[in-house]
Amino acid sequence: MKIQDIPNEIVREVLTEEQIENKLDEIAKQIDKDYEGKELLLIGVLGGAVMCMADLSRRISSPLEIDWIAISTYGQGTTSTGVIRILKDLYTDIKNRHVLIVEDILDSGLTLSWLKSNLTSRGPASVEIFTLLQKPDARKIEVEAKYVGFDIPNEFVIGYGLDYAQKYRNLRSIAVLHPDVYTQKS
Ligand code: IMP
Ligand code: MG
Repeated sequence: MKIQDIPNEIVREVLTEEQIENKLDEIAKQIDKDYEGKELLLIGVLGGAVMCMADLSRRISSPLEIDWIAISTYGQGTTSTGVIRILKDLYTDIKNRHVLIVEDILDSGLTLSWLKSNLTSRGPASVEIFTLLQKPDARKIEVEAKYVGFDIPNEFVIGYGLDYAQKYRNLRSIAVLHPDVYTQKS
């Protein structure tokens, strides 16, 4: 799906497919350098990180493993509740592994800060974070992402894996959702 397919539901496009692809090329090269000689385990946060995982992992030159974790985040709304629990845990024992968390967006930071400390408690060799997007103005808690695609304004965005109420994940680019879409419901 492209933005032209849903003109009434979006305010504007924030990132084109091409911008996303170019950025992932750049970051994958950096990851190749940083993890040279190490075996990487990518951990994707379901379901927003699915597109990032597919496109980033395929750009990395060395063999790696992929696992997934599902945690509760926003439910149907657009603001973080801060209540986090694991809905689906990893299959992999991450002890002594080099872990790179793959996430779509770093907003308040509550999710990634919680996830990073949860994974750290399992004894990995290292834990770092990749996030395609971050909203610096929305940060409530300090959390350092080693790889950041783009800083974006504090607006609710959809597409390229990011959803509103499970919709819009199949939009090819990233766009600001029209507030009418979520104010109508609440
Ligand atoms: P945080 O805990 O506030 O950092 O939120 C992180 C999670 O909230 C992300 O993994 C997303 O699933 C979701 N989220 C935050 N901002 C947006 C947005 O603008 N659009 C869609 N999902 C978002
Ligand atoms: Mg997410």
